[in-house]
Amino acid sequence: VKIAVLGTGSVGRTMAARFATIGHDVTVGTRDVQATLTRSEPDAMGNPPFSTWAAGHSQVPLLSFAEAAANAELVVNATNGGVSIEVLTQAGADNLAGKVLLDIANPLDFSQGFPPTLFVKDTDSLGEQIQRAYPDVKVVKALNTMNTAVMVDPTLVPAPHDVFIAGNDADAKRRVAGLLGEWFGWTPGSIIDVGDITAARGTEMMLPVWLRLWQALGTNQINFHIARAGV
Ligand SMILES: NC(=O)c1ccc[n+]([C@@H]2O[C@H](COP(=O)([O-])OP(=O)(O)OC[C@H]3O[C@@H](n4cnc5c(N)ncnc54)[C@H](OP(=O)(O)O)[C@@H]3O)[C@@H](O)[C@H]2O)c1
Repeated sequence: VKIAVLGTGSVGRTMAARFATIGHDVTVGTRDVQATLTRSEPDAMGNPPFSTWAAGHSQVPLLSFAEAAANAELVVNATNGGVSIEVLTQAGADNLAGKVLLDIANPLDFSQGFPPTLFVKDTDSLGEQIQRAYPDVKVVKALNTMNTAVMVDPTLVPAPHDVFIAGNDADAKRRVAGLLGEWFGWTPGSIIDVGDITAARGTEMMLPVWLRLWQALGTNQINFHIARAGV
């Protein structure tokens, strides 16, 4: 599969590294290739500069958001939620039309410090905002409720735990569910389809709970599990 990962943060790096390892044709998208490669400071989350990661992953080209999206069959949104709509504008509606967009972003607002608040919630969600802005894109919200290391390796949490998917296009959701198994090893029983894209309201609103659990338990190798009677 030709995959474009939009985003150079820890999610984008982790996804792209995994896709490259399993032999997919993957590119990473950024605003300005030269600027991203010449940054020498750690990013806002304290990750090493992108160039350090790129040096160890020379098989993964860094392209502009538009170039990455244009060449891909499937696009991953791993950008800061506050700029995701802007990033997709830069990627270009024509380059995205008809494609599956795996949306991992969360609508976190860190402007008042930690813990962040949600800049959209309850009656709307970032997933819906993206779907409304790009009606020709098949938005599938998934993986946003866990740490990036757990996304690509569910065995890090050695107990039953789940991943939620939401989206309007049933085929796109089936495809993403299959890929979560193929790419990362999520078992069919651990993938819960929570409905159309409005269900992203709920999965995005799980973030405040996840963030407090991270603080309370002192580890980010945690995830949600939905225990069901008779299962
Ligand atoms: N970290 C996790 O474990 C985790 C878990 C679940 C969900 N998420 C969600 O996944 C997403 C990615 O998280 P992350 O920590 O990997 O990265 P991030 O720091 O949230 O986002 C990095 C990306 O955002 C882009 N960006 C920042 N400001 C921009 C602007 N003004 N205009 C255009 N693009 C801009 C950057 O572009 P450049 O490349 O040009 O710098 C970069 O590609 C977030 O929405 C986050 O909430 C993260």
